[in-house]
Amino acid sequence: MFGLFGSSLMTIVFIYLVINIVLSDESIRPQTVKLAFTSNPSEMVISWFTEKENGDSLVHFSETHSTLLSWTKLQHKSGVNVTTSSAQPQNFTSDTWYGLSHTVLLSNLSPLTTYFYVVGGTSQVAYSQIFKFTTQAFDINTTATEPMKKVTPFHIAVYGDMGNGDGYNETVAHLKENMDRYNMVLHVGDISYCDYDKVEQGNQTVWNDFLKELEPITSKVPYMTTPGNHDVFYSLTAYQQTFGMPATSDEPWYSFNYNGVHFISISSESDLSPFTKQYQWIKADLEQYRRYNPNGWIIAYSHRPYYCSTQWDWCRKQTLRALIEATVGSLFQKYNVDIFLAGHTHAYERTYPVYQQLNIGNYDYPGGTVHMVIGTPGNQEGLDKDFIYPTPDWSASRFSTYGYAQLQVQNETHILWQFLGNQDRKILDQQWIVKGYFD
Ligand SMILES: *[C@@H]1O[C@H](CO)[C@@H](O)[C@H](O)[C@H]1NC(C)=O
Ligand SMILES: *[C@@H]1O[C@H](CO)[C@@H](O)[C@H](O)[C@H]1NC(C)=O
Ligand SMILES: *[C@@H]1O[C@H](CO)[C@@H](O)[C@H](O)[C@H]1NC(C)=O
Ligand SMILES: *[C@@H]1O[C@H](CO)[C@@H](O)[C@H](O)[C@H]1NC(C)=O
Ligand SMILES: *[C@@H]1O[C@H](CO)[C@@H](O)[C@H](O)[C@H]1NC(C)=O
Ligand SMILES: *[C@@H]1O[C@H](CO)[C@@H](O)[C@H](O)[C@H]1NC(C)=O
Repeated sequence: MFGLFGSSLMTIVFIYLVINIVLSDESIRPQTVKLAFTSNPSEMVISWFTEKENGDSLVHFSETHSTLLSWTKLQHKSGVNVTTSSAQPQNFTSDTWYGLSHTVLLSNLSPLTTYFYVVGGTSQVAYSQIFKFTTQAFDINTTATEPMKKVTPFHIAVYGDMGNGDGYNETVAHLKENMDRYNMVLHVGDISYCDYDKVEQGNQTVWNDFLKELEPITSKVPYMTTPGNHDVFYSLTAYQQTFGMPATSDEPWYSFNYNGVHFISISSESDLSPFTKQYQWIKADLEQYRRYNPNGWIIAYSHRPYYCSTQWDWCRKQTLRALIEATVGSLFQKYNVDIFLAGHTHAYERTYPVYQQLNIGNYDYPGGTVHMVIGTPGNQEGLDKDFIYPTPDWSASRFSTYGYAQLQVQNETHILWQFLGNQDRKILDQQWIVKGYFD
């Protein structure tokens, strides 16, 4: 009796000590936990922030919640089925930034499997809460070299230009209500607007507060980003270090495959002219994927659109947009890129299938890329309220109201696109898109 009582008392004291360490040292507590895909479907990147250094960056994960829970409580002793991955933390390199980023790669994961995970450091016990994620469908024998051609249905949330201005808190609440639906989130640039108060190096307080608010989203599904003009403070280093995209701050473009669909992220903040590194990379990536899978969906995204019709400089002035269409647009046409997602103008717009300003085919038989702009979640600069009239022929739907979009890949031939307004949680625009073959 006494022995039993004694040992459980010891356990209580021990747990108390562990909790106490966690609570008493806020500076080593992991904050803003985020997931990201790599180009290999059997991998996942997990990243977070701490104010102070705490040894190596560690991720402990398991297929069962109880195994991981007892393992963290008993400080690593009992778990056979807990795997640990580690990396070196990194300081932020700008003088005005503090703290460390942690970016850990998990590999050899199994397909369609849920993993529970905690993150923390070695020198003291300071774990995050337990989070979980689910991997995609893939063949363990081929993985990255031969991605799935078969589509496994999935659902993603899409927006750009979020920041934390008017409307933002409602969009975040709206997203959180719907998070059970989503397998990933695409944030197409202009993330926190932390350069907004003319802080050239970016205001880290704004950046961190923004990411804290999004943690219930970013810790649950991969949060895939592309650089926007408000993310380029100190040379995209903070951006790349924070989000752990499968790219570098010098070459911030990448592609990955998810459940049978090819995604390609283009940096509109980097040079896109022919013969530049990025252009050659886009061409090679699309060519290679199309050779492998001539009929599969390709979804591209970047911050700046080249079809948009608000009364705003970027949309009114043709020159730069025409240049993007002449370079990237011709690759999209040649390699049959089905959908292009962007932000930059603070409105919502959907086009018909279009190429060189001409509608080609329709949603049942697309002969060109369908373009979407979703700059509406709410940021410090407000909405772009005025549209160009007459409405261009290629513009199918446009709104200036707060909300975000969702894209549901149903199967090899059908995608459902929807724009969700925050007010009354209404679906304001909806379109089925059938797979087109346009070269
Ligand atoms: C480890 O996991 C496998 C597969 O989930 C299970 O069969 C096995 O019993 C587990 N082992 C322990 C010690 O929990
Ligand atoms: C971060 O910077 C501090 C202060 O310069 C230094 O002591 C520490 O070793 C650095 N940590 C890493 C992981 O580079
Ligand atoms: C992968 O290869 C192994 C060994 O060759 C084989 O047993 C297994 O069935 C293969 N798995 C799939 C999903 O094809
Ligand atoms: C968002 O902010 C507005 C204005 O401050 C407020 O009226 C509204 O209740 C907030 N919504 C949420 C979900 O916090
Ligand atoms: C950074 O943002 C915080 C929070 O909004 C603000 O209190 C602070 O003054 C800003 N710093 C600078 C240098 O603008
Ligand atoms: C694909 O999804 C669409 C929309 O739900 C459906 O009409 C169509 O029959 C499906 N195609 C296949 C091959 O299942």
